[in-house]
Amino acid sequence: MQAVILVGGEGTRLRPLTYGTPKPMVPLFGVPFLERMLARLRDAGVDHAILAAGYMPQAIEDALGDGSRLGLKLTYVVERSPLGTAGAIRNVADQIRETFFVLNGDVLTSLDLRAMLAFHRERGGVGAMHAIQVDDPSAFGCIVRDGENRIESFVEKPRRDEAPTNEVNAGTYLLERSVLEAIPAGRNVSIERETFPALLAAGERLYSYVTDDYWLDLGRPAQYRQAHDDVLDGKLVLETPPVLGDRGGTIYTIGAAGVPENVRPPVFIGAGSSIADSAVVGPYAVLGEKCTIAAGAHVRFAVLWDAVSVDHGARVSEAIVATNVHVGREAVVEHGAVIGHDATIEPGTVLEPDARVAAPGRVPTEAIS
Ligand code: GTP
Repeated sequence: MQAVILVGGEGTRLRPLTYGTPKPMVPLFGVPFLERMLARLRDAGVDHAILAAGYMPQAIEDALGDGSRLGLKLTYVVERSPLGTAGAIRNVADQIRETFFVLNGDVLTSLDLRAMLAFHRERGGVGAMHAIQVDDPSAFGCIVRDGENRIESFVEKPRRDEAPTNEVNAGTYLLERSVLEAIPAGRNVSIERETFPALLAAGERLYSYVTDDYWLDLGRPAQYRQAHDDVLDGKLVLETPPVLGDRGGTIYTIGAAGVPENVRPPVFIGAGSSIADSAVVGPYAVLGEKCTIAAGAHVRFAVLWDAVSVDHGARVSEAIVATNVHVGREAVVEHGAVIGHDATIEPGTVLEPDARVAAPGRVPTEAIS
């Protein structure tokens, strides 16, 4: 079984994190998100994943290599300029031999991929799309279907009061090879806006696979933090074995025995991180490896990557802090702040709500062809 994973986007909404790490490689409890996704695919029987890349492809390849460590074959196809969600698939057509999965590289879901494949095989047609139900479909692509789940139409980002349904495109597809012929080559093509509507117009059968799975688009800072909270709350079980702490970290859940007094569960503490006795970590703090939290500092409702140091008396809350950041004495990093790799927050600084801080010299990395 093959899968195409769309990992070419610049991830602008996650800047400045994505100045140093491409979006698919942002860590989720110490493990790059894409690595977790590949493990799920492997467990579902996928033995060849094609990564449709464009932005910082080398960072992905350096970390994942040929895939042998993960138990599947990886092929990288790099776009010189972004080809869009369908153009990226068309661009890897010569690699595809059979029915294949397509996944957005930023969707965190508990979807059972084998069950979706069984659904597709049973229904037939040229493709199946995973759909979920949301309260407000206005930011999504709505999928209108009949009683047999056959898709009748798509409505992109409708006004909330005009939405024909609350079932929306969840970013995982199963497609037959014939779909590749419906995508023009050599230009930017959107699968949602062009290819799927064109298939319907041509009378092809597409089906909606509606589930009530956990589903989250990690592409915005608030959602990225939310993913961590949801795992800590047990709303999503990460299935890649071992489930948590797979790089030697520790998770403290509410009610856990042996929790240090200054740790307020639920929290995750990566290997080699140290917390001073009078610092307070948690609730809802996720620390990567080798972080240092000094005396009197507070870290809560926050995600820290590796080698972050939080100095005496500083406060980090409702924030995301990338690798190798130093938060100076008494600094306040709160209310939606996102701090990029290698940045220094000077002592006593109080950041504005939703502040984005990048280290000098950390500029967007262009796609490498
Ligand atoms: P934003 O800039 O924050 O919107 O993020 P993004 O660039 O990742 O865009 P978006 O979230 O809409 O993309 C959804 C998925 O498709 C992500 O996994 C992207 O990596 C991927 N993607 C988007 N555009 C392209 C493209 O032109 N080529 C490839 N290969 N992948 C793409």
